[in-house]
Amino acid sequence: MRKNIVAGNWKMNKTLEESQALTKDLLAKVPANTNTNVIIAPTFPNLYPVQEMIKDSNISLAAQNAHFEESGAFTGEVSVEMLQSVGIETVIIGHSERRSIFGESHDLLAQKSSKVVKAGLQLMFCFGEVLEDRKAGKHFDVVKSQLEESVFQLTADDFKQVVLAYEPVWAIGTGETASPEQAQEMHAFIRDLLKDKYGEDTAENTSILYGGSVKPNNAKEIFSKPDVDGGLIGGASLKADDFVSIVTAF
Ligand code: 13P
Repeated sequence: MRKNIVAGNWKMNKTLEESQALTKDLLAKVPANTNTNVIIAPTFPNLYPVQEMIKDSNISLAAQNAHFEESGAFTGEVSVEMLQSVGIETVIIGHSERRSIFGESHDLLAQKSSKVVKAGLQLMFCFGEVLEDRKAGKHFDVVKSQLEESVFQLTADDFKQVVLAYEPVWAIGTGETASPEQAQEMHAFIRDLLKDKYGEDTAENTSILYGGSVKPNNAKEIFSKPDVDGGLIGGASLKADDFVSIVTAF
């Protein structure tokens, strides 16, 4: 069965001290008996200190990005092996901010995705349409091609380590969320694509998260949809009380 997951993408926020304070708060407030996989993604310099704090807890760590090479002359980059060496279990690839601000292409995302799964880590692969695509009724086509040109180059076996995160760009950081019906409609479409490409088993067992202005007041309704298996949370993951109320919204 697929897992319920709530992941906090801290983006480029929080100093060391602030990261430790938020982690401390989360450790105190995330229920010990939750069935939800709780993941947080601090910035690179804060991964290890946070890992030291959470290693015996039910919270795990994700990195927000990684390079596809193991080492070498790639100034400013961090490899999957380095992340693994400090206890990171998940890597987020394909976030819309990486695509739009840093120009990451489908090919690059395919290489990164392959690297993450070959190294044995969980891949959290993000994708989603911009507002113009949705207005033009092209959102299903756009999502299909984003998947086909990158993460669908993985095998069914690789997909056991993949979590998908549908994040419509128009809903990220805008306060405007997809309606639960819009989220369900797209997630069902994605699950059908998985079924066509990899078969029923992969489709049923792959967690598909929704991201884009998930807040304590809308999480429950979004998570109640049958094909929504949790959320990738930006702004609301920066406050322990908000994040924990989303974690417990199933
Ligand atoms: P917000 O929750 O701030 O809209 O961000 C969503 C997101 O981009 C998570 O990766």
